[in-house]
Amino acid sequence: MFVSENLSVNEKGHLVIGKNDAVELAKEFGTPLYVLDEDLIRKHCRVYRDAMDKYYGGNGLVLYASKAFCSLYICRVAKEEGLGLDVVSGGELYTALKADFPMDKVYFHGNNKTVDEIELAVKNGVGHFIVDNIYELETLNETAKKAGIVQKIMFRIKPGVDAHTHSFIQTGQIDSKFGVALENGEAFEIIKRASEMSNVKVDGIHCHIGSQIFDIEPFRKAAEIMMNFIGDLKDKLGLEIDMLNLGGGYGIMYTESDDPVPYDEYIRHISGIVKETAEKRGVKVPFILMEPGRSIVAPAGVTLYTVGGVKDIKNVRKYVSVDGGMGDNPRYIMYQSEYEAVIANKANAERTEKVTIAGKCCESGDILLKDAVMPEIHVGDTLAVLATGAYNYSMASNYNRIPRPAVVAVSDGNAKVVIKRETYEDLICNDL
Ligand code: LLP
Repeated sequence: MFVSENLSVNEKGHLVIGKNDAVELAKEFGTPLYVLDEDLIRKHCRVYRDAMDKYYGGNGLVLYASKAFCSLYICRVAKEEGLGLDVVSGGELYTALKADFPMDKVYFHGNNKTVDEIELAVKNGVGHFIVDNIYELETLNETAKKAGIVQKIMFRIKPGVDAHTHSFIQTGQIDSKFGVALENGEAFEIIKRASEMSNVKVDGIHCHIGSQIFDIEPFRKAAEIMMNFIGDLKDKLGLEIDMLNLGGGYGIMYTESDDPVPYDEYIRHISGIVKETAEKRGVKVPFILMEPGRSIVAPAGVTLYTVGGVKDIKNVRKYVSVDGGMGDNPRYIMYQSEYEAVIANKANAERTEKVTIAGKCCESGDILLKDAVMPEIHVGDTLAVLATGAYNYSMASNYNRIPRPAVVAVSDGNAKVVIKRETYEDLICNDL
């Protein structure tokens, strides 16, 4: 009935998240409010981890891509579930450090790591850098030399695979700011160079073809291309590559029309093609990494809002405004993303009219749902937008000086604040 499996409706007709009444959560913690179902997050972690054991003999590691939602809380959950962590900035790395995340299981990404970020990571013993370019490689080799260590690295490769997703979140093709390309020899050259350096050790190669992808085929294709490249590196350089990181990007259900692949299927398919190609090319079967972000947290999230003004412009459009918007969820304005919404205080009510749910920012494009068929909505209703656990809080802003909402994690009927609501004081705390 809903896009996320953890949602239901109770006898009062209220939306239930895990075992928590959404209307009660809104009352207790205020709105807008991000709610995360910790039980579902943990379940997703386990699905990936178990599939790695079942289909690949456990010879791999699932990394949580923390850009989807980064906080001390989620780093602790990922750690408890035995996952590694993909971080992409000094800030995400710092969060992992403060959450006592085991640094050997942290993989540091990014297409323009600053010298400060590189030093912070080396100093704290980050397991692997995913090196993006020659400038980073040289800076890292120097930094590692000064620190007296040999830093383990992987390279971000553009495998040239076309993933069918929004062009802003497609990354595998040659015209991308991320990584080095295979087809023009750039990838080969940079790895050759690295293999001659004293303070880096080439452990693996990495690719990430895009995000919110529903097809298995592009992942299979990317895995095959990467395995063939491992074969080429062995043949031409005598270099043995131990690790293959295939990135994230596994699609989820935002609306009824989305048709995601069960998460364990990815590993099943990838395992097959990796082992086959390893045998064909006479290379050893690599340790595999994958980096799901969205698929772990997005379905577990719901954002609760309070409905304010309702504006019915006859023969034009009916606008329903809520107390949040692009500040807490910029995905519509950035990608025209579609969501599903429920009136939490009458979750079973019949959907009878078309409305546009608007945010409260001074921006016409500040929309959450365009032309959504909803039950009749009134001032004071609690609106729940579903599947907001990824790329909402992590992409939130203070535009119009609107404080960021709190994040509440629910588990087995209990609710706890894991990120406090910002106050007006917080908004001015760095102003001089
Ligand atoms: N690994 C790498 C190297 C990535 O760049 C990403 C996402 C991931 C893993 C995780 O991908 P996921 O499993 O979450 O799809 N802001 C956009 C999504 C940008 C994704 C960036 N990279 C959105 O809201 O749709």
